[in-house]
Amino acid sequence: MSEPLANLLTQLDDLQQQAADAIAAAADPKALDAARVATLGKKAPLSGMNRFLKDLSKEEKPAFGQRLNQVKKQLEAALAEKLENFEAAGVGPADGLDVTLPGIRATVGRRHPLMQTAERVKDVMVGLGFSYDDYPEIETEHFNFDALNTPDWHPARDMHDTFYTPSGHVMRTHTSAFQTRAMRAMLAAGKAPPLRAMTFGRCYRNDEVDATHMPVFHQLDAIAIDKHIGFADLKATLLKLAEALFGVGAELRFRPSYFPFTTPSAEVDVMTERGWMEILGAGMTRPEVLRHGGLDPDVYQGFAFGLGIDRIAMKRHGVADIRLLYENEDAFLRQF
Ligand code: PHE
Repeated sequence: MSEPLANLLTQLDDLQQQAADAIAAAADPKALDAARVATLGKKAPLSGMNRFLKDLSKEEKPAFGQRLNQVKKQLEAALAEKLENFEAAGVGPADGLDVTLPGIRATVGRRHPLMQTAERVKDVMVGLGFSYDDYPEIETEHFNFDALNTPDWHPARDMHDTFYTPSGHVMRTHTSAFQTRAMRAMLAAGKAPPLRAMTFGRCYRNDEVDATHMPVFHQLDAIAIDKHIGFADLKATLLKLAEALFGVGAELRFRPSYFPFTTPSAEVDVMTERGWMEILGAGMTRPEVLRHGGLDPDVYQGFAFGLGIDRIAMKRHGVADIRLLYENEDAFLRQF
């Protein structure tokens, strides 16, 4: 045997051993396929061995060629056998579907209790003839304060309560900021009162966090303007709303209060397991505010109220701490 042939046959032995090891090491059909490509594929070292045939004499060519074919056949057989074993044992591809594994329960999302409460209030209010629109969370001082008869010396404008943006806007401190916007939008659309409008959304105040206060909270504000509107209309509307939300016989307590944009004004509490809880501010719209909205206070009157949606959600669901509504803990939210 010539030295070149002897060398080539040794190389074939080595390649066969490496290939056999790779096939044995494959733990699943996907790895086995990778071993097949690495050992018998077009770019595998074994596939390049043909090129050495030309270096051999006519007599020695068949010996090399036969051995090369034999190695390939043996490897193919080993691959096929291993694949069969995988199939018989039910081993699927590592990233494939294994129908024998226990299932994963699909967790179904649902609306947050705050949004459920807001939707409920909106529904009742729509039933009472109010229309809904979204309004900006980042407001001008004009709509959040001035147009609501809250001049810049007013304590409510103190830096301790209001978040200001670098551009000099305010994060709306209440959804009441929508009131004169809604009046102007009505006039811009060529319409006149009666106006019954509402909005809902996030409000921001630089409050200390505790069981009933968060720097972000939710309000729903409503305003009704017409020619003969009185406090009785406000009271009747709030009683209807409370009955729809808390059931017939829901108890409300009206306390005289002060807001710069309403007079007379009231704060309204609802009875809970822990006693009275304040849920809204309300009152008759002041003439200054109507004027800012472009309406003549000698012709029109209005009432307005702003509901704390967080507190109402807490009352409806018996939640004692407002922070639970903002932590988004799955175990808590799953209850609703
Ligand atoms: N904007 C008031 C607040 O945030 C509530 C309110 C709304 C009062 C409308 C009167 C009329 O406390």
